[in-house]
Amino acid sequence: MTRFSAALALALAASPALADDDYIPPVTHAATQEECGACHMAYQPGLLPARSWSAIMGDLANHFGENADLDEATRAEIEAYLVSGAARRTRSIPADETPLRISELPWFKHEHDHEVSQRMRDRAKTMSNCVACHRGADRGYYEDD
Ligand code: HEC
Ligand code: HEC
Repeated sequence: MTRFSAALALALAASPALADDDYIPPVTHAATQEECGACHMAYQPGLLPARSWSAIMGDLANHFGENADLDEATRAEIEAYLVSGAARRTRSIPADETPLRISELPWFKHEHDHEVSQRMRDRAKTMSNCVACHRGADRGYYEDD
């Protein structure tokens, strides 16, 4: 239990497929680990809803300013893996919205806006850099460090 547990429980009750604690099952799919872990941590499928993964995987040539394009077979395989493990409890995300960033989801802002010091933000450079602050993030652990 952390002192954030109460807030987290509230945030998650209406939110992503996160487990009810601070463990999010890590990526177990080799191609996803390799291709989506090349520039940043390979984000866990449970961090975004299925429609978000499909949108991301449908436009890899324009990926946050980078070209992350893949051959079609690999692309389709990775999309299927991400969609199959996607977040299911996503009521806090309006049905007509397809967020492309984990770091802009309501629960994420709720967890981070007031808890993260400027020093930590500067060190991480970007909130997309989960492992800078959560050393076990790529293994699924987001507990306090
Ligand atoms: C060529 C480098 C590169 C590759 C390969 C790549 N990405 Fe990214 N990705 C980026 C960059 C750059 C960002 C934006 C990071 C930032 O804003 O600091 C990003 C951001 C993201 C985000 C949003 C993170 C957030 O802020 O919540 C997701 C989700 C994502 N990538 C998924 C994927 C997936 C899935 C794959 C594999 C198909 C992939 N990426 C492969 C470069 C890459
Ligand atoms: C600049 C530092 C920083 C970055 C980058 C960051 N986090 Fe966090 N995160 C924190 C802090 C601080 C907390 C609140 C304290 C805590 O619970 O660990 C937190 C809380 C969390 C929690 C709740 C865990 C709990 O025990 O309450 C989750 C889940 C989480 N972050 C996921 C992510 C993901 C996914 C990313 C990357 C997309 C990310 N974080 C990026 C600092 C960061």
